[in-house]
Amino acid sequence: MRLDKLLAHMDYGSRKEVKELIRKGYVLVNGNVIKDDDFKVDEFNDEINILDSEIKYEEFIYIMLNKPEGYVSATYDYSKPIVLDLIDDYKKRNLFPVGRLDIDTHGLLLITNDGNLAHRMLSPKSHVDKKYYLKYDGKYNESFIQKFKDGITLDDGYKCMPAEFIDLGDNEAYIIIREGKFHQVKRMMEAVGCNVTFLKRISFGNLVLDESLKEGKWRHLTNEEIESLK
Ligand code: URA
Repeated sequence: MRLDKLLAHMDYGSRKEVKELIRKGYVLVNGNVIKDDDFKVDEFNDEINILDSEIKYEEFIYIMLNKPEGYVSATYDYSKPIVLDLIDDYKKRNLFPVGRLDIDTHGLLLITNDGNLAHRMLSPKSHVDKKYYLKYDGKYNESFIQKFKDGITLDDGYKCMPAEFIDLGDNEAYIIIREGKFHQVKRMMEAVGCNVTFLKRISFGNLVLDESLKEGKWRHLTNEEIESLK
């Protein structure tokens, strides 16, 4: 890859700005100052430094976001803020959210540029568990547990796969589902006569929301977390 392209790709500046860094002699490849912006580097094996800091090229980026309400889980929206607006550092890395949370849903959202991983995690055949914490209006009934296990039928006649309802008392619960139909949790609760008033995803497959991440904040996944998704 061209040196200027790599640096711009890694968000060290616009193409013009990184060319300037290179011309000023701030960029070293394998210990040698390179002033030629179309110099070709092996992004996986060459040691690249800007002054004293080493640049690590990673093809794929994996981010955990604690989504606040008010953000659309998409890469573009004509009127509302999108979840990628919360992650400024990687504008040019083609990031996208893996699946969707409703605009008013909070919690764990995986953001990446790894299309294969996203495809695997979202494939209906993969049956990846998603755990939600919710508050709801309506009257709890012990029969919810069996109804969720048997498969709730939604308003459009679709029968959901077996799911888990875990009562927490005081109109709070966890629900674990293995599919991702439109507004699924809210519609499942409607099917048992309740109305979700707060919804937060706390896990997605093996990935668990880091509760130390404040709403609207994100961090890179650890290597262990990345491995656990693969
Ligand atoms: N189910 C919903 O109803 N909304 C979400 O955002 C996720 C699951």
